[in-house]
Amino acid sequence: MKPYLVFARKYRPLTFDQVIGQKAVVQTLKNAIIQNRIGHAYLFSGMRGVGKTTVARILAKALNCENGPTPNPCNKCQFCVSINEDRAVDVLEIDGASNRGIDEVRSLREGIQYRPIQSRYRVIIIDEVHMLTNEAFNALLKTLEEPPHHTIFIFATTEFHKVPATILSRCQHFEFRRISNKDIVDHLKYIAEKEGIKISSASINLIAQKAEGSLRDAESLLDQVVAFSGEEVKDEDVKEILGIMDREILISVVDAIAEGDSRRIFPLIDEIINHGYDLRYFYRELIEFLRNLLLIKTAPESRELLEIGDEELVNIKKLAEKIGEEDIFRYLSLLQQSDTGLKYSSHPRIFLETVLLRLTHLKKLVPLTDIIEELEKLKENIPLLLQTKEEGIEGKEIKKEIEAEDKQIMEREVLHLDEKEKREEAALGNEEFYKKFLNELQVEKAPLAAIVSQSDLFELKNNKLLIGFTPGKVLFINKAKREIETLRKIANRILNREVKVEVVEQEVKEEDRFIEEEKKEEKNKDYERILNNSTVKYFMDLFKAEIISVESIKNKERI
Ligand SMILES: Nc1ncnc2c1ncn2[C@@H]1O[C@H](COP(=O)(O)OP(=O)(O)O)[C@@H](O)[C@H]1O
Ligand SMILES: [Mg+2]
Ligand SMILES: [Zn+2]
Repeated sequence: MKPYLVFARKYRPLTFDQVIGQKAVVQTLKNAIIQNRIGHAYLFSGMRGVGKTTVARILAKALNCENGPTPNPCNKCQFCVSINEDRAVDVLEIDGASNRGIDEVRSLREGIQYRPIQSRYRVIIIDEVHMLTNEAFNALLKTLEEPPHHTIFIFATTEFHKVPATILSRCQHFEFRRISNKDIVDHLKYIAEKEGIKISSASINLIAQKAEGSLRDAESLLDQVVAFSGEEVKDEDVKEILGIMDREILISVVDAIAEGDSRRIFPLIDEIINHGYDLRYFYRELIEFLRNLLLIKTAPESRELLEIGDEELVNIKKLAEKIGEEDIFRYLSLLQQSDTGLKYSSHPRIFLETVLLRLTHLKKLVPLTDIIEELEKLKENIPLLLQTKEEGIEGKEIKKEIEAEDKQIMEREVLHLDEKEKREEAALGNEEFYKKFLNELQVEKAPLAAIVSQSDLFELKNNKLLIGFTPGKVLFINKAKREIETLRKIANRILNREVKVEVVEQEVKEEDRFIEEEKKEEKNKDYERILNNSTVKYFMDLFKAEIISVESIKNKERI
């Protein structure tokens, strides 16, 4: 029987042209070989499994190939074969993590005083070079200062920032990129085809996602999946093995949040735990998922950025239609704020439940476009609306909602006690009060704030707050009347005393909204005075004009 070779070994590229991605690195090295400008020391940086060791070995072959130095090593001659089989005496691979000390570097230095034994170049590959001790680094540095003939160093590291600058300055640095999702998917499909493995695109996508840019990880995951499933890979098996969050759960969770349906959160968390998913992992997936949702909403054309399969895209789009961008922003910022909390929490389950419940309670912001749309509809439907009964099934449901809201408000009031104490006891002027009222309402219940901002009268008098709308705004009147408790609570909270609130139908001009009685009289006097002014009279006759407002120009700057 043929010994089983893991895919990562079996599919290790043997030539520069077989290397996936890393175009810049490969091109520069090939050119250097062609122009016979080989450096003494190279530093390859990049995450695990992106081709650093592979390229180092191809470079060793390119330099030592019987037909070389050549950018296209033959892979047939004794030199190429011995390197491919890991038994070339002049190509040394040293793991910096386990040979960290000065002694190792010293013996290395002694060993390289002499010419290479069999080949043209001696190639020394030190992996995870950042793990070397300071002493070892210093010894290495001396070697680099007087580089021995025919010896080339290739250092590899996953943590570039930990490599001392003194070493860096003596190396040519190559940055290895993470492998794109598309390249990973294509490569996995290629392997599956070669090996006669039946696996769906969806499963390949899942494996690629999980590999997060590392081709080696992707290949190893495929190994695991095939070892488990055999050559016909079932989608459920893949999900099972990878422990990948079933998208349906994520979609359900976000859907529950969007609908504000807190009752669905507990069973969903049960489901997540029963599947054996790590809660922190779920949390990360949720953030990633929301980010994709946001991307789809804000830049639908940026599909490639998303790195998700076609089926998933359809489902995500459906969900995206339900949620506003502003909401997703708020979900994301709350999740990110709580991120460290979950990391250190000793009760991650309770922590997660709390965060998700908070998300379901975040009030929906009403997008401006919706308000405009509503106003437009209002214009069309005024006659119809006047006929509809105010209390129906809808009314009862809204009442339930209001009760639930009130409970929350009371909870929040406890939190606000401090602020409350700071508030002035004295009643505020109408206009200032109006601003505060709208601000607070905006936080409590944005849609209601939008309605109150459309009111034509907002007057606090004799312990009574009058909110008036012109008769045309019947829809607003009805909604405001249903929410009268919320309005009352906010008024009480700001004024720190009990006031009544009444929503009334009233014909009032916009500019009269804040005018108190005395001021109204003053204003009337202004009108009279102006009407008797001869110049004004002249212009009024000339233009058939009407006085709409009277304003003082005394304090206004001339333009
Ligand atoms: N850029 C790449 N092109 C093709 N295969 C790759 C690439 N990067 C990694 N691999 C696969 O992963 C395996 C391990 O890659 P390796 O070069 O050891 O990664 P690194 O040294 O960066 O951790 C290779 O044998 C190969 O199968
Ligand atoms: Mg390596
Ligand atoms: Zn060769």
